[in-house]
Amino acid sequence: MPEIYLSAGAIDARVRELGAEIRTRGGDGTLVLTGVLKGAAIFFADLARALPGPSEFAFLRARSYEGTESTGEVQVEFSGPEALGGRDVVLVDTILDTGHTMKAVREVVDTLGARSVTTCVLLDKPSRREVDVAADLVGFEVPDLFLVGYGLDHDGRYRGLRDLAVL
Ligand code: IMP
Ligand code: MG
Repeated sequence: MPEIYLSAGAIDARVRELGAEIRTRGGDGTLVLTGVLKGAAIFFADLARALPGPSEFAFLRARSYEGTESTGEVQVEFSGPEALGGRDVVLVDTILDTGHTMKAVREVVDTLGARSVTTCVLLDKPSRREVDVAADLVGFEVPDLFLVGYGLDHDGRYRGLRDLAVL
């Protein structure tokens, strides 16, 4: 079994803080919580329940083009409101690594006309960054370790672990 890096309890406490912080920044209105599948599924569900006040849900699926992962080309499918004109979007992902995914999903949300975009990740590995993106809200800054659990997989495994663990 992988070794525990962050316990479910520690994650839960931080997610509650992030939910409160998002509401403080976002004002009283309806926020379009937009999760990046599949990895954000668990974090999204917890964050949605930690966020006071009204929210709508949307999802994105981001995939690196096969065989060209090194070029960082990311294909994005959006599932949510037809247009985001005038909407305040919160982009949610579990981990920010090289930054290619966040850059690509952000561009899609901007193209759909979002009035504001706040980015929130549970984990940030700044030492791995290849493109110039940062998240507005970060749960934990982590070193260059490969983490699994809490939605994160290795070859499709471990997403359902309650803790975050080091492979
Ligand atoms: P980026 O595009 O390199 O920032 O990578 C983001 C995606 O890479 C995440 O959504 C994860 O799917 C995957 N990823 C990056 N680091 C890890 C890790 O430590 N464990 C599991 N998946 C990871
Ligand atoms: Mg993965």
